[in-house]
Amino acid sequence: MENNEQKKVVLSLIQPTGTPTLGNYLGAFKNWKAMSQEYACLFGAADLHSITVRTAPADLKKRTIDLFAILLAMGLDPEKNIIFCQSHVPAHAQLGWILDCYTQFGEASRMTQFKDKSAKHADNVNLGLFTYPTLMAADILLYNADYVPIGADQKQHLELTRDIANRFNGLYGDFFKVPEPFIGKAGARVMSLQEPAKKMSKSDTNQKSFILVTEDPNAIVKKIKSAVTDSEARVYYSEDKPGVSNLMEIYSACTGKSFDEITAEFEGKGYGDFKAAVAEAVVEELRPLQTEYAKLIKDKAYLEECARNGAEKASRIADRTVRKCMKKVGFWQY
Ligand code: TYM
Repeated sequence: MENNEQKKVVLSLIQPTGTPTLGNYLGAFKNWKAMSQEYACLFGAADLHSITVRTAPADLKKRTIDLFAILLAMGLDPEKNIIFCQSHVPAHAQLGWILDCYTQFGEASRMTQFKDKSAKHADNVNLGLFTYPTLMAADILLYNADYVPIGADQKQHLELTRDIANRFNGLYGDFFKVPEPFIGKAGARVMSLQEPAKKMSKSDTNQKSFILVTEDPNAIVKKIKSAVTDSEARVYYSEDKPGVSNLMEIYSACTGKSFDEITAEFEGKGYGDFKAAVAEAVVEELRPLQTEYAKLIKDKAYLEECARNGAEKASRIADRTVRKCMKKVGFWQY
């Protein structure tokens, strides 16, 4: 990352817990791509985070490589930005430990993701699941990120990151940059196609509830056609119409059209026409990524080279932060 002009720093990661969904794409990736032109950006695979849920070793590795290829396929430039894998930069775990010691048990207990995930994986409520937000705080604070583009579901973790940074700064003098979340207007919370009260998630057991970014266009059309709506057959945005409103969010995020424009476009038409248009917009939106991904995933040597470069560039920044942070805390250094 060339940051000679002192551009603002942007960082965001995604877990390799499966192929990213349309939710990840619209909530995060689309903003990443837009920001990558203007800011000094770091993007990557949060693989340390994903072992909080038990995963077969071969799956973890395959998903991480797939995700890395998807990040490059999206058009993020590994020369201009830092594209990396979290576990390749040991400083994340080092700063994570330090931040654990500046985070209260009570505040970590209030994290809704911890409550949800520990209910869902009741047989494996491990300490990593609990300290997950401090590792996420480390990811961000290591690089003095100004902005963190995320979907609405990660906002609480970002607030905790800010609290930890402010607390540390209060004790040792200004050290960490206090980051701001960046949540896009459209696509911030893409919901399940089958249960629109729940967010779209790659770990949902119902395959029809999500769209994967690498999914075959025919499957995308089918899933959108079978999305849950209502019996009113009128396209407008309302809390009482979560299924239709979600499809409007998706359509708006893909086309840039406002909700009013979408309502006008489908005035007097049924949900069949509306869903066909949404499906086409999604297929077209994902097409360039899919074409590029199919090429990149075959080129393991190139992916490895990019990962190595990304890790080197990230480590240079992160190691310096950890060293300075340890000095502040009072660790013996030579
Ligand atoms: P993860 O892997 O669950 O999701 C990656 C990004 O996608 C967004 N997202 C969504 N946006 C809209 N609608 C949805 N249905 C949807 N589902 C997911 C998420 O908000 C996120 O921006 N803890 C993070 C990963 C992480 C991270 C970080 C993020 C680790 N360290 C540092 C930012 C900065 C997570 O689990 O995201």
